[in-house]
Amino acid sequence: MTTQTKKELLDNLKKTIAINNPCPELKNSAIQLVFGDGNPDADLVFIGEAPGKKEDETGKPFVGASGKMLDDLLSKIGLNRSDIYITNIVKYRPPKNRDPSESEKQAFLPYLRNQLEIISPKIVVTLGRHSMNCFLPKRKISEVHGSPEVVDGITYLPLYHPAAALYNGSMRQTLIDDFQKIPELI
Ligand code: URA
Repeated sequence: MTTQTKKELLDNLKKTIAINNPCPELKNSAIQLVFGDGNPDADLVFIGEAPGKKEDETGKPFVGASGKMLDDLLSKIGLNRSDIYITNIVKYRPPKNRDPSESEKQAFLPYLRNQLEIISPKIVVTLGRHSMNCFLPKRKISEVHGSPEVVDGITYLPLYHPAAALYNGSMRQTLIDDFQKIPELI
């Protein structure tokens, strides 16, 4: 018997989501499933909220303006996309980029947990409060951003969403400072 690679296991999980169709409304309004991208063998996984327009068009997470901001933040700590794996809680774009609802997040959560089990990273960086609250419920991002917390052997680092820094210089500096925690944790 041959053991499947993480990439093969992830490809199977992607097919399972397409078949199980956990959220038919979102699937119907989106162009395609945005599953995840990057290095399946990475120790570092980033989790955003949901795909936006560019992500829906390309099928890849974080390729629009937030993605450019993320690349910039990563480069400041000497990392690029091939060093990390990146995905979202919700795998289809919500109409007009609205926030994902509680039920939409819950519908995709088992698949996100499965995705993390396959990759088994050392560090999970949550981007924004939606992603943080899936793993660290009831925390306030304004209080805990940049402070790592270990749950079941995985270190979670809650950070603000890169989109928050697009038009806010002081938020950009906060994110730059919080990103410095990542090399310390690795
Ligand atoms: N924002 C997210 O949370 N995820 C993406 O993939 C793009 C923008």
